[in-house]
Amino acid sequence: MAPAGESTVRLKLTVARTVADLRARIDPWRAAGERVALVPTMGGLHAGHMAIVEAAKRAAVRTVVSVFVNPAQFGPAEDLATYPSDEAADAARLAAVGVDLLYAPALKDVYPEGFATTVSVAHLTAPLCGAKRPGHFDGVATVVAKFLTQCRPDVALFGEKDYQQLLVVRRLARDLDLGVEILAVPTVRDADGLALSSRNAFLAPDERTRAGAIPRVLAEMARRLAAGEAEIDAVIVWGRTELAAAGIGELDYLEVRDAKTLAPVSGVPRCDARVFVAAHVGSARLIDNLPIRA
Ligand code: PAJ
Repeated sequence: MAPAGESTVRLKLTVARTVADLRARIDPWRAAGERVALVPTMGGLHAGHMAIVEAAKRAAVRTVVSVFVNPAQFGPAEDLATYPSDEAADAARLAAVGVDLLYAPALKDVYPEGFATTVSVAHLTAPLCGAKRPGHFDGVATVVAKFLTQCRPDVALFGEKDYQQLLVVRRLARDLDLGVEILAVPTVRDADGLALSSRNAFLAPDERTRAGAIPRVLAEMARRLAAGEAEIDAVIVWGRTELAAAGIGELDYLEVRDAKTLAPVSGVPRCDARVFVAAHVGSARLIDNLPIRA
């Protein structure tokens, strides 16, 4: 018998709506010694999300995917109201690849009345998106800490596309002794290199074409730095000029930072470093990053 409150959608994917539902499903797996993976998402699933689901299936016996558009991580002027959401389509995609459980809680179950706790990760959240989106990473850290505590997975998987988020989640899992392994999944890209994102749906055709400059310029910056052809400052100036010429003039940041600490790096990068970008294209804010490999 399914626990009360559960519903089933096409292709027999079980959907848990509450923590009690979730645990009633997962506890028997845990008791049977089955490894459980969690893939947290905000829905609008695309091939990037599905690559994480496939990695989760390789990493564990049971795969749980959460779909929850988390208002706490959107600023007042951001795209919460228009964020793409289609639970039936998401559920069908997940069912087709054999996901064991969809966790899709309601807002009131994630943030019940009187909810007063915030998980805040210092230092790693200061630069890049943290500087441009005040409160964003508190919202992410709080909801991820909740989902990890609710689900108690052996492993949770996150995309390198949101690299700063990945580091923040790793830090909180370690700091709070959540006992979960955090795995990183490489960024999945379109044919022209643009990182897949739910926000690409906001791009008009000409904007979509222009956005192709982002991965192209990032890759050339990473190549020049890896080859030692120029110092970081010069490569950033080059990158900004190239992006502007391609019609990507509105940048939140274009920076090179240490891949582990996100500390600034200057001169010729000698540590493990990455190039990070956030750009506004039409109404979409797109982020991307690449490693600088020697
Ligand atoms: P969302 O943007 O839906 O992303 C869910 C996961 O998919 C994240 O780990 C993200 O890094 C990954 N992802 C997105 N695009 C990707 C791509 N092109 N290639 C590989 N992975 C990709 O990130 C969030 O949701 C939320 O902040 C969340 C962690 C769920 C907390 O609310």
